[in-house]
Amino acid sequence: MRMDNDIEKILFTSEDIKVAVQKLGQKLTKDYQDKNPVVVGILRGATPFMIYLIRAMDCYMEIDFMAVSSYGDDTESSGTVKIIKYLDTDVTDRHVLIVEDIIDSGRTAQALRKLFAAKNAASVKICSLLDKPERREVDVQADYVGINTPNEFVVGYGLDFRQQYRNLPYIGVLKPEVYQS
Ligand code: IMP
Ligand code: MG
Repeated sequence: MRMDNDIEKILFTSEDIKVAVQKLGQKLTKDYQDKNPVVVGILRGATPFMIYLIRAMDCYMEIDFMAVSSYGDDTESSGTVKIIKYLDTDVTDRHVLIVEDIIDSGRTAQALRKLFAAKNAASVKICSLLDKPERREVDVQADYVGINTPNEFVVGYGLDFRQQYRNLPYIGVLKPEVYQS
């Protein structure tokens, strides 16, 4: 691929991701068997993971999407979380499973937990493809994590740098010169 030239190293191959998603799918299938959850993908980063994950879950569910923003166009968090688009689904007394690409500072996850608690969801759980525990600024955990990732800015499989690289089929680190351009 053309974009491969911008990548310094691959951290997780599409096979690594496949294995992680299948494992998550098995666990979630058990945990949500009789719950008919509302599975909420967080746009845009969670889409490739979400599309894959829901097909690894063998249970009744509804899906919906939400857009939030915490990052500007660069690699550091602005520290605030804005709701850009809310759900079309009423989550009152429903089991909500939030699907995220990565938990970094934890601010987005914390804001989403609060939001759905205030909407009187029956339960709120977070499933994240990646977790960067070293970067946590607030005390929040994902309930389900695919892969722990080191403290490096990563792209691919939904994760972007300036809205690019979301379509890479693996997760990797960009070459330094790409940031500087
Ligand atoms: P948090 O609120 O700091 O936990 O950030 C969550 C959001 O920041 C994620 O949903 C991503 O959109 C973005 N983000 C955090 N770390 C990375 C990264 O390494 N690469 C790309 N996006 C990231
Ligand atoms: Mg992002």
